[in-house]
Amino acid sequence: MQQPNLSRYIPMSRRRRIYEGKAKILYEGPEPGTLIQHFKDDATAYNARKKDVIDGKGVLNNRISEHIFNHLNEMGIPTHFIRRLNMREQLIREVEIIPLEVVVRNVAAGSLAKRLGLEEGTQLPRSIIEFYYKNDELEDPLVTEEHITAFGWATPQELDDIMALAVRVNDFLAGLFLGVGIRLVDFKMECGRLWENDLMRVVVADEISPDSARLWDIKTDDKEAKVLDKDRFRRDLGGLLEAYQEVARRLGIMPEQERPIVSGPTLVQS
Ligand code: TMP
Repeated sequence: MQQPNLSRYIPMSRRRRIYEGKAKILYEGPEPGTLIQHFKDDATAYNARKKDVIDGKGVLNNRISEHIFNHLNEMGIPTHFIRRLNMREQLIREVEIIPLEVVVRNVAAGSLAKRLGLEEGTQLPRSIIEFYYKNDELEDPLVTEEHITAFGWATPQELDDIMALAVRVNDFLAGLFLGVGIRLVDFKMECGRLWENDLMRVVVADEISPDSARLWDIKTDDKEAKVLDKDRFRRDLGGLLEAYQEVARRLGIMPEQERPIVSGPTLVQS
């Protein structure tokens, strides 16, 4: 794959903003077919009914997601990721986002535990893939393969590709985190259609970070202390930045002395 040249780097002030989401902004990239993905510090939950700004979160998610996507690319799992550009931004390939949140679960937690009355922390008999239709007004409802193909959000072939990608990403991530003492409870990924000439393939897009995964410290039994992901924010546990820093430190991507610039009060881990 040809690497886009960055000599056409456009200063932030002159960039065209393509899309702004809850935690990220997409700008036009330096080459046709590329975009710049900018990670904000905004934290939202419950369809943005709960909001805050956590200084340094975007920097950590940029680094953690870069680490994961680099590994996926190296393993031949196709993604939109090209390279990290700076503390908050990465260069990505422009894809057409498939309007599904693909959730892979290994352990009962969150909405699955609630929906089916399962005790949080119960190992599932096998990994389970769920689909949610990306629609803020409808609050991202759970949908089945029937809905997805009947309404044309993805074709049956694309769904097969998405499920195969989800299984491979889950196997890789579970092993990566297990190696650093973290249990991958569940995670959300998004996929996009990438066109190369007349050929289209489905690739992993968006981000994979502690914002979009449940990560529990293996050695800690305490239900709150073990949480190293965005549930610290959702459940008002505090210490979100410290938890994300711990994930980055264990993955070997954020040396001790290189801390995101934090202004204002920092949250103290309970
Ligand atoms: P859930 O248990 O709330 O359905 O979440 C499952 C996983 O998906 C969890 O790791 C958090 C992630 N997730 C997102 O990244 N974005 C979302 O909007 C939701 C609802 C969940």
